[in-house]
Amino acid sequence: MSGVVSLPTFGRRRAEDTAGAAGLPAAPATSAPPEAITELRAQCLARLDPAGVAALPPERLRPEVERLLSEIATERRLQLNAREQRALAAELVADMLGLGPLETLLEDDAIADIMVNGPHRVFVERGGKVALTDVRFRDSAHLTAICQRIAAAVGRRVDESSPMVDARLKDGSRVNIVLPPLALDGPCVSIRKFGKKSIDFARLIGFGALTEPVAQVLQIAARARLNVVISGGTGSGKTTLMNAMSRLIDHGERIVTVEDAAELQLQQPHIVRLETRPPSLEGKGEVTQRDLVRNALRMRPDRIIIGEVRGAEAFDMLQAMNTGHDGSMSTIHANTARDALTRIENMVQMGNMGLPSAAIRIQIVSAIDLIVQVERQRDGGRRIVQVTEVCGMEGEVVILNDVFRLETIGERPDGRLAGRYVASRARPGFSERLAYFNLVEPWMAALAAAGQEP
Ligand SMILES: Nc1ncnc2c1ncn2[C@@H]1O[C@H](COP(=O)(O)OP(=O)(O)OP(=O)(O)O)[C@@H](O)[C@H]1O
Ligand SMILES: [Mg+2]
Repeated sequence: MSGVVSLPTFGRRRAEDTAGAAGLPAAPATSAPPEAITELRAQCLARLDPAGVAALPPERLRPEVERLLSEIATERRLQLNAREQRALAAELVADMLGLGPLETLLEDDAIADIMVNGPHRVFVERGGKVALTDVRFRDSAHLTAICQRIAAAVGRRVDESSPMVDARLKDGSRVNIVLPPLALDGPCVSIRKFGKKSIDFARLIGFGALTEPVAQVLQIAARARLNVVISGGTGSGKTTLMNAMSRLIDHGERIVTVEDAAELQLQQPHIVRLETRPPSLEGKGEVTQRDLVRNALRMRPDRIIIGEVRGAEAFDMLQAMNTGHDGSMSTIHANTARDALTRIENMVQMGNMGLPSAAIRIQIVSAIDLIVQVERQRDGGRRIVQVTEVCGMEGEVVILNDVFRLETIGERPDGRLAGRYVASRARPGFSERLAYFNLVEPWMAALAAAGQEP
């Protein structure tokens, strides 16, 4: 490399002046020869001692990198002004310690989801709405290196031979990575951010996700140890609601949780958290949710909580619910309460070939008391749209009764949907259980109080 090159605005734009803009991002403005920047970056990285970097606190590392950058720039006769130098140093530090361009998005509490579709297209979700941001990675290799760092931090690996991985960030955020050749347009990363403040019923009511009476009913369900399935589409708020409900579990109970990637935030002292393990490169050592649920049954749990049922473990979940582990909970991906039942039936069937439908339905009906349906509605709001009791069977058909159903009645001037809950006054099939916990009156009172706007 020779000659004097100036390095104008090569620095990555910060998320705060870019990510909020819903419009299309401008192309990155850099007139410096990219080779010069690459060379400078590479030189700097080569001279830093990895052990030294790890030992330094981030606030000391940055000036160190700045000093080194200016040293190299002087040696190579590259002209860098102070601002550019700072920006490049910040970028290098973010790359070395953190997740590069993702850092600013991760810091922004208003962002719920980050979706990276290859190095040049990064979307975020704020307030229920998805928008393209101006955040870019240098290239696929840059993004891949960050993916590998995320996977390595949880003892997993992601590369061409094992191109899909689930992981978790330090703060608990859930991450899924898919690399080429499976992902056709470069590495894809999906991050479900872990809220810094946990969401309880009071906050959910504040968000307009449900009303006080509906919250009452769910709280009663948790206290009366009803078996509850929370159903909804992707990112509709299932896990959040399950977290909120699980906070009401008595501290004396022993809870075993089973998850693919741990996201539950239970506060109870007596909790055992289990997480699945993918197979090794040789295809060995896989531990599935089914294995864990079966094992959980031998751990003397009072309740079993499954992050999300998605396969053969549905059978074992029903078994657990039917054999004295009431108060068990899970989430499921389905669009209505009835769909949720069909999905469970299909999952059981897939894992237990030959089991007749009728037999499965009987299991389902005796296991599950309530299905709570959540939905991300067209205004971006996440709301509880159905609380449904699984009443029984009539012939081959499962009888459901909506304890609450959300009816949309219009749109507010600000574009938010307005709705009200319609409640059923029917005495639930589990009223004996409610009576045992002295909760019949509060239940009926909550139903009577429904009808407020969410
Ligand atoms: N009622 C709500 N109002 C506003 N934001 C919410 C609400 N419920 C959940 N969220 C936020 O929405 C995002 C998705 O929530 P959550 O992880 O609970 O969804 P999920 O249905 O479990 O998703 P997945 O299908 O990916 O498992 C989170 O960032 C969460 O903080
Ligand atoms: Mg979830």
